[in-house]
Amino acid sequence: MENNVRPASMERITTKALADKFIAEQIAEVKAQVGNKKVLLALSGGVDSSVVAALLIKAIGKQLVCVHVNHGLMRKNESENVVEVFQNQLDANLVYVDATDRFLDLLAGVSDPEQKRKIIGKEFINVFADEARKLEGVEFLAQGTIYPDILESIKQAEGKKAVKSHHNVGGLPEDLQFALVEPLKLLFKDEVRVVGEALGLPHAMVYRQPFPGPGLGVRCLGAITRDRLTALREADAILRDEFDKCGLAEKVWQYFVIIPDVKSVGVKDDSRYEGWPAIIRAVNTMDAMTATIEEIPYAVLHKITQRIVTEVEGINRVLYDLTPKPTGTIEWE
Ligand code: XMP
Repeated sequence: MENNVRPASMERITTKALADKFIAEQIAEVKAQVGNKKVLLALSGGVDSSVVAALLIKAIGKQLVCVHVNHGLMRKNESENVVEVFQNQLDANLVYVDATDRFLDLLAGVSDPEQKRKIIGKEFINVFADEARKLEGVEFLAQGTIYPDILESIKQAEGKKAVKSHHNVGGLPEDLQFALVEPLKLLFKDEVRVVGEALGLPHAMVYRQPFPGPGLGVRCLGAITRDRLTALREADAILRDEFDKCGLAEKVWQYFVIIPDVKSVGVKDDSRYEGWPAIIRAVNTMDAMTATIEEIPYAVLHKITQRIVTEVEGINRVLYDLTPKPTGTIEWE
């Protein structure tokens, strides 16, 4: 337990020099911990797992086996980026698993949000465990645990109730028990980012907005269908593109599209056009416990609306969610 407490004397990592010092210390520690054994890592492409991967590639090279599970609920080009950065640029030992069909088949017809989360979390472990069993000589599991995760577990152990069941790779089956390697577990998020940049990861990856484990699954509301999921992915890519272009991407904490399982009547090319609404959410927060709404300029909203309704098949309206947290949560499910 002591190893999980950040000492009061620990200096905040705010500069490249401090990050380089931290990286050197962690490389020595990881090498001493794992020797010549293999280490497995679930690499989602999120900030934390990406920084752990880059750090461990530096420390132990091909002894690290990264597994990227594409659950079919990733944003546009996200899995491709993981392969590009880690396999092509950093020469990582990367196993890429396209498990889209496994996930979408299990989710077909399931509309309850908690049920969806449970299916995605459980299947993620199944797919990851299947890959882990194919590998030989793995004794360690690396995780992108950071200090707020440790603080959150302490809170939960004290009996405080969570609003939603968030998932991380924990709870692997009995036959797959590994010793943990958690080099970031005493760092706060801003420090992880400084370390990521010092390791040479792309800025966009290190400053990526948070993305929930169940991915687009909790933004394609109700029972997920492939056509609505495709529309969501395209609309979300347009929103992100426009936020990049007008500088909002650097300013807003989290921004994304949600598509409910509802259609309204519209008109396109002089004909009746029944389509889904795309709902935009753009929030700012310090800790995700409460959140306020970004005041997106009207011109930007118009541009996004225009692009989504003309470029995305199946969408005939765009709405902007003005609800802060509380009463809304950031995600809709
Ligand atoms: P809510 O919707 O509870 O979200 O206001 C707060 C923050 O948590 C993210 N979120 C998740 N992150 N696994 C995650 O790693 C999850 O299952 C999950 N669900 C929500 C959400 O995107 C927001 O940043």
